[in-house]
Order: sequence, then structure tokens, then C-alpha cells
Amino acid sequence: MLKVPFTDLGAMARETWPDIEIDFLDAVRNARYVGGAPVEQFEQDFARYCGTSHAVGVANGTDALQLTLQALEVGAGDEVIVPSNTFIATAAAVVRAGAVPVFVDVDPDSLLLTAEIVEAAVTPRTRAVMVVHLYGNMPDMDAIGAVTARAGIHLVEDAAQAHGAEWQGRRAGSFGIAGCFSFYPGKNLGAFGDAGAVVTSDAGLATRVRSLANHGRSSGAAHYEHLFVGTNSRLDTLQAIALSGKLARNEEWTEARIALATGYRDRLAGTAARLTTVAAPARHVYHLMVVRVPDRERVQKLLADREVQTGVHYPVPCHQQPPLMRYARTPLPVCERAAGEQLSLPLFPHMTTEQLDHVCAALTDALNEVTGR
Ligand SMILES: Cc1ncc(COP(=O)(O)O)c(C=O)c1O
Repeated sequence: MLKVPFTDLGAMARETWPDIEIDFLDAVRNARYVGGAPVEQFEQDFARYCGTSHAVGVANGTDALQLTLQALEVGAGDEVIVPSNTFIATAAAVVRAGAVPVFVDVDPDSLLLTAEIVEAAVTPRTRAVMVVHLYGNMPDMDAIGAVTARAGIHLVEDAAQAHGAEWQGRRAGSFGIAGCFSFYPGKNLGAFGDAGAVVTSDAGLATRVRSLANHGRSSGAAHYEHLFVGTNSRLDTLQAIALSGKLARNEEWTEARIALATGYRDRLAGTAARLTTVAAPARHVYHLMVVRVPDRERVQKLLADREVQTGVHYPVPCHQQPPLMRYARTPLPVCERAAGEQLSLPLFPHMTTEQLDHVCAALTDALNEVTGR
């Protein structure tokens, strides 16, 4: 039987390797492991890709979020609005920065934040909102930007799943005071290990994040002079080389993802699978192809029986995770219901039409079986 893996990171690495092999081996042989020209080059290229003036490479996406909040001096006593339907890191970064996550629900069709939801959650203690471009999709950034401007709070984008996503032709990461990216290997733009970046057009913020990520050093000062207590969260040289090789392919791979997602939408129309909506001005880059289905565990098992690997993003909303439950204020019915229904289908740039057909046929059969159609 045809096997369909959830993703195929090896295919992406093999395609990239010939272009980066010389630089990668050169860095290894010459012991250039931290900083240097490859990091600077990737930062410049990634900032250009996002449409911002600066990109600061950091160790991972969670640090990108936490360092951004710290650089904005969001901390003790401050509230940060966070959608509960996200990976725990969005909320964990708020807690680790010393602030209080205020969990809110999401739109039932897109499963993203809306301007109305953000507006209703603002209090005199609110300092920021984390807008999560979940699955690679973007909410109405004009409306949300208008709310944050009116309320005088920071708009921080958690763009960990949204490299190259757009709203009205403008890239994810360029709307807020900062955009935070993860380059975890499984992300659309993934390194050969952990990595992340903060993009911004605020030069002061970029400098503060860079310093915080490098032990509070300042660029002009001597190596052992520190402005404040920071941490070690640098993007390393080998990851920067891998990322540059992959960034050059990211548009082609993103278009392949979008074409596959269109194929999914066409083939699953009329089935019991509920697809998330995409607003007309948005470019959804399909980090994840998420559908909501009845009797998810059984559907997942029926798909596994036909060699189709799936995932669940995410089975427990943040406000119901034990370490975060104390921040929960009210039930969040859309997030809670979605957590029990969401199913992520295979989607990766090298997926074939044959594999797409196989997944859709297997899913259609599984849905017919669980709904008794
Ligand atoms: C929405 C979201 N935010 C934050 C993160 C954290 O990124 P990282 O794993 O690189 O720390 C991830 C990915 O893991 C994510 O999907």
C-alpha cells in the first residue's frame, strides 16, 4: 500500500545540501561555529523576505517571543492577550517574561483571533497581544492593528508557523512591533536543529533583542562588558548556512504547499471534514493542513490502517494545560471544541498527487464509516 508520511524533511535537506555543502564543511573545518558572515547574511536576507528592516537570529522561536517581550519591558503585573488555540510556547514565553497570559477564544471558522476578541479582552493592565498566525494563516491584520493602536498596546506576531504568509500582500512579521519566527526543523523554513529569529523595523528594539540574546553585550563594547543581564540565545553559524540554502527555495516550496492545499480543498468538498476559512486578502502558507472531523481518534486510526500518518495540533488548549490552568478565567468554547476535532493531514512540498489522492480517498472512506453515510 502507498505510504504517506506526515512530512518529509529528508527530501528538503537532500535538495538543499548540494548548494550549502561547501559553506557548511568550510565552517566546520575552519571552526567557525558562532556568528560571522553567514549569520549576518541570513539575517539580512530574512529581513528582506519579511519586508522588515532588521532580523535578529536567536536560538529558537520560544526565545524569540520571550526576548521580544523582555526587550519591550513587558513583565511583572502586565497582561498579554494570547489565543488559547496555539502551541504552548506562545503562552509560556509570556509567563517566562514574568507577565500574565490572558487567554481568549478564536473565530470558529478560521480558528484565529479577531479584532473584536482582542478588543473585548483589553484592560488597563494590557501591554501586548500575541497574534498567532496559526497553521500559516493570517487574521485581519488591519482590523487588529486598529484595535492595538487605539488601545496603545504592542502587537507582537507569533509567526512561528507562517514564513512567507501575507495579509494584503504584506508579509507576516511586518505588521507588529515585532514578528517572532521558529526555524524548528519541521517548520516551513526549518534549520538542521533549533533556531529562530525576531524581525522588526524598530532599530532600537532590534538592538535590545540582539543584546539580550548575547549576554547583554553591546556591539561596540569590549567582549566582557555587559549592559545588563541577558541570556545566550544566538543563532549559530551552521544553522544560518542551512537556513540560507532553504530560504532560497522557500517560495517554490510554499507554492507547492498551496497547490496541495487547493487539491485537498477540492477533493474534500462535500465530505464531513470541516476546513478552516481563509480570508480573501490572506496568503495561507499551509504549515499545517488542519481539518475538523467527527470521532477524530477513530478517523485517525482508520487513516493509520491505510498508511496515512496524521497529527493533532493541538489536542489540549493552553488554558487547560496543567501549568497554565491558573490563568484560565472563563471557558473558551471554540478552542475547547476544536481541540477535540482538529486533525492535521500530511502536507509537504515533495508530496505527490498520488499521495494526495490516497489521503483524500482514505479520509473520505473513514468519514463515511464514522458518520454511517
Ligand atoms: C505557534 C508557535 N509558537 C511558538 C513556537 C516555538 O518555537 P520553537 O519550537 O522554535 O521554540 C512554535 C513551534 O514550535 C509554534 O508553532
